Amino acid sequence: MPHILILNGPNLNRLGKREPDVYGTDTLTDLEQKLFQFAEGIQTELTFFQSNHEGDLIDALHEAEEQYDGIVLNPGAFSHYSYAIRDAVAAIGIPVIEIHLSNPHAREAFRHRSVIAPVARGQITGLGFEGYKLAICYFMNTNNK
Ligand code: DQA
Repeated sequence: MPHILILNGPNLNRLGKREPDVYGTDTLTDLEQKLFQFAEGIQTELTFFQSNHEGDLIDALHEAEEQYDGIVLNPGAFSHYSYAIRDAVAAIGIPVIEIHLSNPHAREAFRHRSVIAPVARGQITGLGFEGYKLAICYFMNTNNK
């Protein structure tokens, strides 16, 4: 069964309290529970990790190569400027899907650019929690590894 890492970056631990008009009122725990149930139904194993620290996210990306078939990564604001996370994504041999709950292209200009996108397998934005489910489905097809 595919094993996917769900990697959430800075401030996503504040989901539910943080700008609810943008991100909704569900918490990170709600997201993880919903995804866990969804993944169970499609015989997919998930591991969750969240960090507010760039280096921890980079370490998690490096270590993931040996353990997972793919990564669903919400880099938070690091998406817009972290060349170090971009290089970590490029440095590993498993596919990474970049995900955003909101649609950064419909928000402030500084969110319009992702430095991760060119090295990601693909990007899903603006679909809230559903976007994570779509990303998980991508890894069900073993040809997509
Ligand atoms: C986000 C979008 C980013 O611009 C923002 O900095 C976040 C969350 C999203 O999921 O919509 O922290 O990645």
